[in-house]
Amino acid sequence: MALLDEITKRRTFAVIAHPDAGKTTLTEKLLLFGGAIHVAGAVKSNKIKKSTTSDFMEIERQRGISVATSVMGFNYKDVKINILDTPGHEDFAEDTYRTLTAVDSVIIVIDGAKGVEAQTRKLMNVCRMRNTPVMVFINKLDRPCKDPFDLLDEVERELQIRVRPLAFPISSGDTFKGVYNIYEKNLSLFTTDERQTADAETVDFSDISSPELDNYITPKFASQLRDDLDLVEAVYDDFDREEYLKGTLAPVFFGSAVNNFGVRELLECFIRIAPSPRPSTTESRPIEPSEQKMTGFIFKIHANMDPNHRDRLAFMKICSGTFERNKNYLHVRSGKQLKFSSPTAFMAEKKSVIDFAYPGDIVGLHDTGTFKIGDTFTEGEKLKFTGIPSFSPELFRYIENADPMKFKQLAKGVDQLMDEGVAQLFTSSLNGRKIIGTVGQLQFEVIQYRLEHEYGAKCRWEPISIHKACWIESDNQEQLADFKRRKHANMAIDKHGRDVFLADTSYALALAQENFKDIRFHFTSEF
Ligand code: G4P
Repeated sequence: MALLDEITKRRTFAVIAHPDAGKTTLTEKLLLFGGAIHVAGAVKSNKIKKSTTSDFMEIERQRGISVATSVMGFNYKDVKINILDTPGHEDFAEDTYRTLTAVDSVIIVIDGAKGVEAQTRKLMNVCRMRNTPVMVFINKLDRPCKDPFDLLDEVERELQIRVRPLAFPISSGDTFKGVYNIYEKNLSLFTTDERQTADAETVDFSDISSPELDNYITPKFASQLRDDLDLVEAVYDDFDREEYLKGTLAPVFFGSAVNNFGVRELLECFIRIAPSPRPSTTESRPIEPSEQKMTGFIFKIHANMDPNHRDRLAFMKICSGTFERNKNYLHVRSGKQLKFSSPTAFMAEKKSVIDFAYPGDIVGLHDTGTFKIGDTFTEGEKLKFTGIPSFSPELFRYIENADPMKFKQLAKGVDQLMDEGVAQLFTSSLNGRKIIGTVGQLQFEVIQYRLEHEYGAKCRWEPISIHKACWIESDNQEQLADFKRRKHANMAIDKHGRDVFLADTSYALALAQENFKDIRFHFTSEF
């Protein structure tokens, strides 16, 4: 029973957005509500911002962008909330994709002036693959924004999900008056109060036909709001939580994160409707969070938390049962029993050693280089969680050793960085040369920097022209062998020994797909 209580009170989610839409600001405000940080009037200070973003890596500090992913837990009312932070920079999208495998829902932040942007679209595709429930927060209403109905249409069209506004804005920019909260039936008035405290002025207002509304937001805007709400009710079906939980309907809120406006409404609704930990899939069977035996998987490995040590921190999502400190667990891939004397939990920006953790929680495990992304821990059952794919990289380079004396260090460094999921390694079948594939340009610099600073190795990059890497498989072994023979110069194997076709151009890929009908070309490593 105690376990069930712990499960039902947990909400594990990520805030995702195109860079600059306001993800960091919103996360910070959510932490503020949870009392996880106290900033009384100093929200703009960079100090707070730094502590809410994860800046574990030196390189991240240097570049001033959030490269890493971290976890922030806090309690709000009776709910234990775990926010999984995702890197803001799109070159680290793969990190974000992986983090999305560990959440039970997401909040998407959209800039009301810009609407749906490229990165939002990509991230939504990943959510769709897993039917992750999505809430939308349209931000920056204090600035001139697009028409709310146009924004709703845009979200529906671009993100391919039905929407249901649960709040509705009254104008935007200089004339922004506030938000009518359809879900709670009250009016939040926007006061351009630079103090940015946790309390926006809220007026209970269930009957918007009342003439009193005019006194709050002027007759012009009152009339506009009545018309808008009539239209909302006419156009959109009632909010259906089941549809939301299936990932087919997104409730939409409007506000201004930097002014802490509309955030409480979002949070209140979130704790009521967002799912507690959901069942997870493995290769053999589904795992219910309420199963007594502990299971969990590693979705993220962080290196170099302390630059003086090369130790890493592996982030494990607990999927079922109760995780206990100093208890033996089976590390399924190696078959070894391992116990953890100092597992850490994350509350706001602090890490602390914990004795127990429950489904939905993220536990930090000390790792000396043995863990890989996707590793599973159980109480004995040989399980492998699915849904943690690698995505086909988009940029490729040969990696060469630039210091012949440091060959071993380079090999070890590359090996460990690949285990962390920084990039993907392929070995050319033609010449045995190592090829690194990434989703962003910046990763090449990160790899070079880290090889040098953490492993004392030097690498050099050489260009290679590849359009896309795809994993191939077929039931027609003859055709597969024929394909591999003909495409020998474009074949490689990945780190797990699987066949990968490195297509030079999109044309070559299309042609290969056309000519070899029995071969399946996959763009994620999980199929
Ligand atoms: P991100 O994590 O999604 O990349 O975005 P972040 O929260 O860092 O916000 C990007 C910029 O947008 C910041 O301004 C932030 O203050 C601003 N912002 C966030 N929410 C709102 C809002 O509701 N209204 C307005 N007008 N601006 C908002 P910056 O100039 O880059 O940084 P700062 O100096 O203000 O901290």
